[in-house]
Amino acid sequence: MGSPSSQIRLLLVEDVSQVAQYIRNLLNAQDQVKLLDVLTDGRKVIDQIRELRPDMLMVDALLQGKLNGLEVAERVRQAGFDLPIIALTVPQKPIKVGPGMGIVKVLSMPFSGFDFMNALQAASAEHRASSPDALSRVFSVFAAKGGVGKTTVAFNLAVSVAQLGFRVALVDGSLQFADLRTLLRVPESAPSILQLPTDRIAESDLQEVMWRDPSGIDILLAPPRIEMAEMVTSRDIEKALSLLRRVYHVVIIDTPSTVNDAVLAFFDSSDGVIQIVTPDSTTLHNTRVMGQTFQAIGYPLEKIRFLMNRADSLGGIDPKTVAVQLGRVPDFQLVSDGRLVVEANNQGIPFVLADPAAVISQGMARIAAALLAPSVPMVAAARR
Ligand SMILES: Nc1ncnc2c1ncn2[C@@H]1O[C@H](COP(=O)(O)OP(=O)(O)O)[C@@H](O)[C@H]1O
Ligand SMILES: [Mg+2]
Repeated sequence: MGSPSSQIRLLLVEDVSQVAQYIRNLLNAQDQVKLLDVLTDGRKVIDQIRELRPDMLMVDALLQGKLNGLEVAERVRQAGFDLPIIALTVPQKPIKVGPGMGIVKVLSMPFSGFDFMNALQAASAEHRASSPDALSRVFSVFAAKGGVGKTTVAFNLAVSVAQLGFRVALVDGSLQFADLRTLLRVPESAPSILQLPTDRIAESDLQEVMWRDPSGIDILLAPPRIEMAEMVTSRDIEKALSLLRRVYHVVIIDTPSTVNDAVLAFFDSSDGVIQIVTPDSTTLHNTRVMGQTFQAIGYPLEKIRFLMNRADSLGGIDPKTVAVQLGRVPDFQLVSDGRLVVEANNQGIPFVLADPAAVISQGMARIAAALLAPSVPMVAAARR
């Protein structure tokens, strides 16, 4: 559930209240680890993982009740969650950790705050390094308001990233209205995320479902009809994204302007959220409110990047006021170009290919390069 941030969202399963309280106290005065909840009953863990989407699970191996700690770990692994687990025990009851148990570290009580943080950081780093998708980057394109350019930006950004030499997938996360289907005039019969098997998806399944756009990117489409959106679960999204990460260098997700479980699943699976803003008061207001939600979820500030679209709009709110309202200067900017953008959209082609020399196309190329800057050594690898 790759939150890329340094903050670790932890779920604790501990029925000894003194231990739970000790851990709460350790975590009180810091923000590297966010304790999402403490469960005393191992049977509730799977549901709470679905609900709270932690980055890490810590279980007391000596848990009393219907399930002991190791059984909890076993169930989590069987349910298919790719979640590192730390087991707590006492020196008298050492745990032999076997491969495939899902337990990446054992922490012996009593432990200091230093031991505790070290174990968590190490487990998190190891887990990240060991996952085959560690090198790929996933970005959601979101806005707190409709019609500000999400779909246009997601499509053109994906194509611009592909132009840098990366293998790119674009995901139509606007599950109800399937904006990319409409934009690219994809036939209704073209397969969507719903055609991915729900269990054990293989890379070959993915290849059959992806729509190959002439612009050089592959697209995972949304279902063709509104009512089908409900059939896509958060779990499906998570699985699809983890598979896409294995096959593509970069994944861009177009999202709707709503916040629901599906959209949160897209955000959770993303390394960054590119939030589109326009220089008008409604969008800025909604963006601020959304910022509070992101904060409540526990996303670090760096996960959200602001892209000011139509930055040069006539009568738009001035940049200084925008920066004050957003709490910072937008990370990226795109100019307004009604003629090129609308015409290209009407033809279902990316404006960055229709007129690569246009100011807006150059701007998009710069955004693509800046976004992928930390991954530039990958470009060489990608081209090999
Ligand atoms: N930078 C821009 N300059 C001119 N028109 C734009 C720009 N960005 C978006 N548009 C236009 O705005 C409209 C809404 O864009 P769209 O990408 O569908 O928004 P959303 O997905 O946020 O609803 C489209 O008609 C698109 O052509
Ligand atoms: Mg859209």
